[in-house]
Amino acid sequence: MKQKYSYFSRDVSAFFLIEEVQNSPEHIQEELLVHNLFEHLDFTILLEEGPVAKACCLLKESHLLPNFPEELRKEAGIILAEEQEHSFQYDNTKGFVCETTGLYPIEDIEKPAFILRLEQIIAQSSPELSQWASLFFTIISETLITKQLSGISCDVSVHPFVRELLTKHAKDEAKHRAFFNSVFIYIWTELPPSIKEEVRELLLQLLLAYLLPDESYITATLKRYEHVLGKSQDRIQRILSHPKTRERVFNAALPTLKIFNDQKIFEDISSKDTFYKRTQHLSFDVSGKLVRS
Ligand SMILES: [Fe+2]
Ligand SMILES: [Fe+2]
Repeated sequence: MKQKYSYFSRDVSAFFLIEEVQNSPEHIQEELLVHNLFEHLDFTILLEEGPVAKACCLLKESHLLPNFPEELRKEAGIILAEEQEHSFQYDNTKGFVCETTGLYPIEDIEKPAFILRLEQIIAQSSPELSQWASLFFTIISETLITKQLSGISCDVSVHPFVRELLTKHAKDEAKHRAFFNSVFIYIWTELPPSIKEEVRELLLQLLLAYLLPDESYITATLKRYEHVLGKSQDRIQRILSHPKTRERVFNAALPTLKIFNDQKIFEDISSKDTFYKRTQHLSFDVSGKLVRS
C-alpha cells in the first residue's frame, strides 16, 4: 500500500490543539497541514529576506559596530548569500505545493504577526535601543531555528520532500547559529552598561514576538473551514491559552535561552519556571502591540 504523508507535522500545528480540528475529516486535517507548511514557508521567506538580510548587511558594512572583526564581517556576507538561496528554495517549494495540492496560501492578512510585533517593539523602544532591536531579533531567530527545523524534519509522517528541504536548511542554520552566538557575545560585551537592563527585557519581548502563534493567520485559515468546523466565538482563545502553546514557545526558545544562560544575561532563564515567571504576563494584540496582563 502506498504510504500517505502529511505536508507538515501535527506536533507543532496550532490548529490541532482544538478538538473540532482533531475530530474533523481526514482530508480537512491534511489541508490544514498544507496551510501550516505555507505559513512556515512564507514566515521563513519574509524573515530571511527581511530582518535577517538587514542584520547581515548591518554586520557586513555598518558603522554601528566599528570594531567588529573582519573575519566575522566576511562571514555575514556568506550568510546573506545562503539566506537568499533558502528563500529561493522555499519560494519554489511553495509553487510546487500549490501545483500538487491545488491549495493556495491564505492572503487575507496584510503582514505576518512577527513583522507587526517587531515594528511595534522598534517604534516603542528608546532611540538608543531601537537600533539594536532588529539585530537582536535576528540573533534570536538564527539561534533557535535549527532546532525548529530539525524537530519537523524528524517527523516521519511528514512528506519526504518537505523533510529533505528542512534538513538541508537546518544544516546551514547550524553554522549560522554558531556565527550569531559569537555576534551576540561580541555585542553584549560592547553594549553600554546603562542600557543592558533594558536590553534584557527587550530580548524576552523579541523571543515572544518570534515564537507566539500568529492569531490573524490562524483565525483567517480556520474561517475557511467554518463550514466543516462550525462557528465558534472562543476558538482562537482556546488555542492561544492552551497550555501547550506556552510550552511550545519555551521548548523552541531553549537553544537561545541556553546562550543567554552561558553569558549570564539572566538568572537561570532556561528553567521553565523562571521563563514562565518572566514572560507569562506578556503577549501581543492583533496589531502587534505588546500587551501586559
Ligand atoms: Fe535560512
Ligand atoms: Fe540563517
